[in-house]
Amino acid sequence: MKKYTVAVVGATGAVGQEMIRVLESRQFPIERLVPLASEKSAGTTVEFGGKHITVEKLTHSSFADNHIEIALFSAGGDVSAEFAPSAAKAGAVAIDNTSHFRMHESVPLVVPEVNPEDIKLWKTTGIIANPNCSTIQMVIALKPLHDEWEIERIDVSTYQAVSGAGARAMQELMDQMQSIFTFNFDAFEPKKFPHKIALNAIPHIDKFEANGYTKEELKMVNESQKIMHHKMQISATCVRVPVLRGHSEAITVRFKNEASALKAVELLQKARDVVIMDDNSKNHYPTPLASTDKDEVFVGRIRADIYDKKTLHFWVVADNLRVGAATNAVRIAEKWIETEGAK
Ligand SMILES: NC(=O)c1ccc[n+]([C@@H]2O[C@H](COP(=O)([O-])OP(=O)(O)OC[C@H]3O[C@@H](n4cnc5c(N)ncnc54)[C@H](OP(=O)(O)O)[C@@H]3O)[C@@H](O)[C@H]2O)c1
Repeated sequence: MKKYTVAVVGATGAVGQEMIRVLESRQFPIERLVPLASEKSAGTTVEFGGKHITVEKLTHSSFADNHIEIALFSAGGDVSAEFAPSAAKAGAVAIDNTSHFRMHESVPLVVPEVNPEDIKLWKTTGIIANPNCSTIQMVIALKPLHDEWEIERIDVSTYQAVSGAGARAMQELMDQMQSIFTFNFDAFEPKKFPHKIALNAIPHIDKFEANGYTKEELKMVNESQKIMHHKMQISATCVRVPVLRGHSEAITVRFKNEASALKAVELLQKARDVVIMDDNSKNHYPTPLASTDKDEVFVGRIRADIYDKKTLHFWVVADNLRVGAATNAVRIAEKWIETEGAK
């Protein structure tokens, strides 16, 4: 089997570190791993395959110089905007975790469980975009239900972990929690969030737009429609909560046709990378802690609407750093190898 030279851009970040762990745990066919980051982390090391590999400074020639074939980007939108085209120019496929290219018409936006066929469109730009973390787990759970009953409208409220805002945001929550234990709650001023996040819930992720929605909420709207190739109505309210890892979502979905909770369980049981946790008598439902370090989307609290036979409600949880970022990117790379890699 052919092995690939793989770059991880942003290798020292929350998502980049997880990417390296996922590549290793899935036994991705790697010939050589090239970790890239900013000047600040150049010279530090990351662990892969029992070895310490030195992080290199990202430059425009990093990809050609290292003969990179697959480049996984998670170093922020500006870095992707500037450097993903260099990776593509050097002949690599760039799989980008940031929001920069997601809505570009000529860049495919892919969740392998939902629209793997879009990967073939990578050739136009050399870039494949990885959706927003909240979108990925939602569309994985919705796809089998959409295929059965056709979605008309989705209303979703998210409860998003701080790791969605990066490694420093995780530290900010830990520092604030520590300050509470030492009765010194005023010691840590918020930096990554608009308010203190410890013991709090903040209904504000990313910037506000003129229509009153945040960019994060509009990402869920636009990206879901692009991935599912379906113009359903969507409204999202995205909330940051003091959880380290694992985004939760309360989803209400109205279909074109009559739906049933029992049939939904049956459909989701057969779906790839979905696990049902739904036994109220045993307090068995998904939680962020139970989803940590897992590669599946967990679904529970599946119930019919009290008034409308076309509406279902459920609760979806997934590890945002894995399912919502690293694992989805690596699954895209695996699918790319399967369908395009050898051509
Ligand atoms: N966290 C999530 O759940 C999630 C999910 C989906 C997508 N994303 C997206 O993925 C990206 C990274 O997120 P994160 O949470 O991993 O952030 P993070 O923990 O802050 O890590 C950022 C990474 O980017 C590197 N970097 C920053 N500026 C750079 C530059 N000029 N050149 C090269 N490398 C640079 C950093 O390297 P240094 O160590 O050198 O600073 C670090 O490795 C963001 O665009 C984010 O929106 C995150």
